[in-house]
This record gives sequence, structure tokens and C-alpha cells, in this order.
Amino acid sequence: MIQKVRTLLVIGASGLLGQHLVHQGKGTFERVIGTYHSNPFQIQGVKVERLDVVSERSVSDLFEKAHPDFAILTSGLTGVDYCEEHPEEAVALNEVGPLNVARACSELETKLVYISTDYVFDGEKGDYVEDDEPNPISVYGRTKLGGEKNVLNTTHDSIVARVCVLYGWNRITSKRNFVTWVLDNLESGKAVKLFDNQIVTPTCADEVASVLLKLVEEDVSGVYHASGSQKVSRYQFGKHVAEVFDLDVGKLAPVSMEKVGLPAKRPRDSSLIVRKIEEELNIKMRPLPLSLKHMRESR
Ligand SMILES: NC(=O)c1ccc[n+]([C@@H]2O[C@H](COP(=O)([O-])OP(=O)(O)OC[C@H]3O[C@@H](n4cnc5c(N)ncnc54)[C@H](OP(=O)(O)O)[C@@H]3O)[C@@H](O)[C@H]2O)c1
Repeated sequence: MIQKVRTLLVIGASGLLGQHLVHQGKGTFERVIGTYHSNPFQIQGVKVERLDVVSERSVSDLFEKAHPDFAILTSGLTGVDYCEEHPEEAVALNEVGPLNVARACSELETKLVYISTDYVFDGEKGDYVEDDEPNPISVYGRTKLGGEKNVLNTTHDSIVARVCVLYGWNRITSKRNFVTWVLDNLESGKAVKLFDNQIVTPTCADEVASVLLKLVEEDVSGVYHASGSQKVSRYQFGKHVAEVFDLDVGKLAPVSMEKVGLPAKRPRDSSLIVRKIEEELNIKMRPLPLSLKHMRESR
């Protein structure tokens, strides 16, 4: 009997989450394709393609050529302050891109997972479940919510997976995330000020990649919260990082969000409840210090 070759397409594979997805996807799917936009990369066993999601033509050409069974859309304009100051670019990447991808998926019956964010919420409540009403307070949050709607309204075989403060090793570009930024500062002896009144549920890229690869194969659709399960302030998060990596906790200082004038408003408490995904996949998200320990071990 001929075994069907199942193809996974990861859009944004040069990004933090995307690179972990293609690495791990090689273990599950017979064919893995990863796209980049400005940062070409090479990973053994992964077919690399350049893609601009904003171009409907490029998206449909790639889908016609690759015929993926599954697509995970991680690309986006992720700088919250940059989005605030460049709203048109944010709409193009976070809304038009997902619409183009969702149309191609619908056409070819490709199952789609779209990666979204806790920033679709206003942060007044915290402990958000999937049924809670989004109410974004920034351009980034509004455009990601627009992307969610475009995906869910365009193709029925789709999942929106919301994550929150992604962290992990980035082995493709020098772009830092919360943990690598704290580490760079502490390891060079610098003091770091961290918000003590912004509450999040940090998401380990390596861990969530394996969860998403399970989710994409399930016969489910709709919204899933897929962050870590532990709720912390950014200051507490930094303390965990310093402790796990044996660095000087005393270099961390708490500061309130209101004291730092940033262009975009941030939700005060955008913590996500992940019970639905844990129950349906029969998994448990790791406690934050354990995920950080794994990260340290894989340095
Ligand atoms: N980072 C966080 O803390 C966080 C929190 C919540 C939700 N999220 C969501 O999670 C997803 C993944 O985040 P991440 O941190 O892994 O992202 P990232 O590291 O910023 O990577 C973004 C990816 O998008 C690609 N890209 C940029 N412009 C593109 C275009 N026009 N066409 C196609 N691809 C394009 C980039 O390619 P090149 O690098 O090659 O240009 C890169 O592969 C995002 O959708 C984000 O909204 C992130």
C-alpha cells in the first residue's frame, strides 16, 4: 500500500515560533516546508521558500506548488509599538496576510492554524478563556483580532491559537525575546527594569510548538488558548529567569507600566486560561521554572 506523504507548511519559519515548528515538524510529517520573508535560513530536511503573505498571488502560487495538508501561520508584524506607529503595515501583515492564506487553504482543503495573541483582550479581567469577548486596546491587538476573524470566516477547517510572550532560543536571527533580552543584560552585568504591574502567561516556543503540532492533526476548529499556564508579572518572570540561569536577581528592578511612556497601550492582565487545550489534548503545560530549566539545558 502506498503511504500518503503528508506535507506541513510553516509560514514564518525564520521567526521564533516558526523555527521550533519546522524543527519538530520533521519528526511528525514526511514533508516540511518553511517560509521566510527577509531572513533566509537552512535547516536540514526542511524545504525553504520565500513568501510575502501580503501578496495574494505569491500565496496562491506557493499553495498550488506545495499542496500542503496542514499550514501553520506564524508570520505577523509583532512589534507592538512599531504597529502603533505603522498601522497600515500592521493591517497588511496581520489582517490581509491571514486572509490570503485562509483563501488558499479553503481552496485546497488545507487545515490552517493561525497564531494569535493575548493582546486581543483589554487586560481588565485576566484569566481569559476562549469565550471571553476580545476588546483590543492597541493597533497590534486590533489587527491580530482582524486576522483571527479573516481566518475563521474564510475557512471552516481552521484553528486560532493564542499565545502570550513567546520565549526561547532564536537560532536564525539576532532578534531577542523577553528571556534572551533579560539574559543578555544580566550576563553583561547591566541592571534591568521590568514591569511589576503587567501580568502575563509566558509561552515557551519549544513547548508550544509540540502542542501545536498535536493540535493541527486533531479534528477540531475554533479558538484555543495555547500559552503557558503560569501567571506572573514581567518582574516575577525576570526573577525566574535570573534564578534558573544562576544570575544576579538583585540587578532586576520593578517599575510600573505607567512610568514608562510607550507608544502603544498594553493590557494590564492578559493572562490566558489553557484548560481547554490541556483537556482536549490530554497534556499539562509545564510550570514556568521547568520550561526555563529545559531552555537552559538546550543552550
Ligand atoms: N513574540 C511574542 O511574544 C508573541 C506574543 C503573542 C503572540 N505572538 C504571535 O505569535 C506569532 C509568532 O511570533 P514570533 O515571535 O515567532 O514572530 P517573529 O519572530 O517576529 O517572526 C515573524 C515571522 O514573520 C515573517 N514575516 C515578516 N513579514 C512577512 C511577510 N510580509 N510575509 C511573510 N512572512 C513575513 C518573518 O520572516 P523574516 O524574518 O524572514 O522577515 C518571520 O519569519 C506572531 O503571529 C505573533 O503575532 C507573538
